[in-house]
Amino acid sequence: MCGIVAYIGPKAAYPILINGLRRLEYRGYDSAGVAIIQDHNIVLYKRRGKVSDLEDYCMDKDMAACAGIAHTRWATHGEPNDENAHPHLSEDGKLALIHNGIVENYLVLKQELMRRGYTFRSNTDTEVLVHLIEDIYKNEQVDLAEAVRLALSGVVGTYALAILSAENPGQLIVAKRGSPLLIGVGDNEYFIGSDGAPIVEYTKQVIYLKDGEVAVVSPHREIVIKNSENETKRPYLEKLEISLEQLEKGNFDHYMLKEIFEQPNAIKDSMRGRINTQKNVVSLGGIIEYEEKMLNAHRFIIAACGTSWHAGLIGEYLFESLVRMPVEVEYASEFRYRNPVINEDDVLIVISQSGETADTLAALELAKSRGATTIGICNVVGSTLARNTHAGSYTHAGHETGVASTKAFTAQVTVLTLMALGLARKKGKIALSQYYQLINDLESIPGKIEKILTQNDYIKEIAQFVAQTKNAIYLGRGVNFPVALEGALKLKEISYIHAEGYPAAEMKHGPIALIDEAMPVIVLATEQETYEKVVSNIQEVKARKGKIISIVSQGDKLVKEMSDYAIEIPRTEELLTPLASCIPLQLLAYHVALLRGCDVDKPRNLAKSVSVE
Ligand code: M6R
Repeated sequence: MCGIVAYIGPKAAYPILINGLRRLEYRGYDSAGVAIIQDHNIVLYKRRGKVSDLEDYCMDKDMAACAGIAHTRWATHGEPNDENAHPHLSEDGKLALIHNGIVENYLVLKQELMRRGYTFRSNTDTEVLVHLIEDIYKNEQVDLAEAVRLALSGVVGTYALAILSAENPGQLIVAKRGSPLLIGVGDNEYFIGSDGAPIVEYTKQVIYLKDGEVAVVSPHREIVIKNSENETKRPYLEKLEISLEQLEKGNFDHYMLKEIFEQPNAIKDSMRGRINTQKNVVSLGGIIEYEEKMLNAHRFIIAACGTSWHAGLIGEYLFESLVRMPVEVEYASEFRYRNPVINEDDVLIVISQSGETADTLAALELAKSRGATTIGICNVVGSTLARNTHAGSYTHAGHETGVASTKAFTAQVTVLTLMALGLARKKGKIALSQYYQLINDLESIPGKIEKILTQNDYIKEIAQFVAQTKNAIYLGRGVNFPVALEGALKLKEISYIHAEGYPAAEMKHGPIALIDEAMPVIVLATEQETYEKVVSNIQEVKARKGKIISIVSQGDKLVKEMSDYAIEIPRTEELLTPLASCIPLQLLAYHVALLRGCDVDKPRNLAKSVSVE
């Protein structure tokens, strides 16, 4: 969703800002803008469309400045257009503000500010913030930082914001509640980012601002941070855990393809240090202190959204099969509003790539407030989810730029597998032989994925057929049912083809009505307990002339003969098949989207991290 970058220091600000905006593009946006300070005046440029449109617009302008703020906007309040793009200016034009998040009480604030004579140039919720700050700054005889703090005390909602002031050109003011904000510390210079992407090129020393804090950054001065009670807080420097290389496409045409191909290494990184190969013991350092709580839990609740929710569904199979404990998997967005029954002996596992998904964070807070133990599985180091859970495990998949999640998903499933194995062993629910077998098989998964990736060209051929359809059905059973859901989600989000995932046996309860000779049915038919049942489901599709694209175990003959296209994947323990069977589906979605001329890395309407409800 929206992205923030800001700079103050001795360097030329504009190139840093525009480069930062490019690095933030992956988050999803529909307009972009920049404000700089020149001769004690704020100069503002905003454009609907791509960052490159803004860049073209600024091409012939004088952009010399040592301080500035810039923003990519993903529309919530007000359509995507030039006026609604950030930054927004105060009435007197002396303050410029960029904002991520939502001001929930903006209407009440807007009405009051209009009554006081403020004019609104946009339809955004954000514009109330800049007028409110201006109003307090002018009327309360306080400095700007204090005006910001006072203004924000009356705001309901979430924000990460940065403010540029023509009257105070040597400082930037930033604040946060609910949306992430980082301050990168350089040599007498500061870089602000809504994540590490626009900062990492310049510094790895960062301060993660905490909720309710307002900070003043000025070159040659110490950062001043105050919390919502006006108490001074000491800045705490941390190391940014991403590398520039992770942010580049390398030799790949798209981030998504790069990230699909990175999966063997991402999974190895997820396992690194967590399997003692000499002793064949699984242990996740981040949850050790809460292991007893987990072992004695009444039940596990897994809450997540989108692809992370699919990983959670696979987690349910893993935990129930191996740990023999009850698991409920919840859409975080539903869970948070359902007044669910949560007890102190429940363990909530929240899964999120970004660690900033608003609904998942709200589910976490709800469970915490009811006394449950909360465990996070998260990819972004230092994210809100990682900070707010009692304990957790990072997935270590590396920065994921493609909006369609791929390597983060397989890394989440890897961590869930390790968690289930560790708990199952400690609880004595799994025989040593099965435990060792699963560990060995898990360790062989990266090599198996390498083999699947060699079929990229063949999958591209299959994509030619799928690219022509309007609909697609994905079928799977058991632990491969969530993979069917995930395959369908990948296809719809990047190729805009309508796709549905179903448990294969459910097909005859409705979706079978859709099947005709134009309908591709992608079936996960690896050799598992329900193989014969899936074979019957394939017959049912064929009897209605549907086209079968199957994912089968290496050496399979039966389903292969029945299929229009069959993709073989190496055999593995049934519980681990999702780690392999999802790979062809990711590649299929990628190639279909390309053939349809879609922007694979930045699909329309989508944001990488959904930080508003
Ligand atoms: O960052 P999170 O894992 O919490 O994000 C959850 C979903 O928004 C995300 O998985 C989304 O569904 C992806 N675009 C799927 O590819």
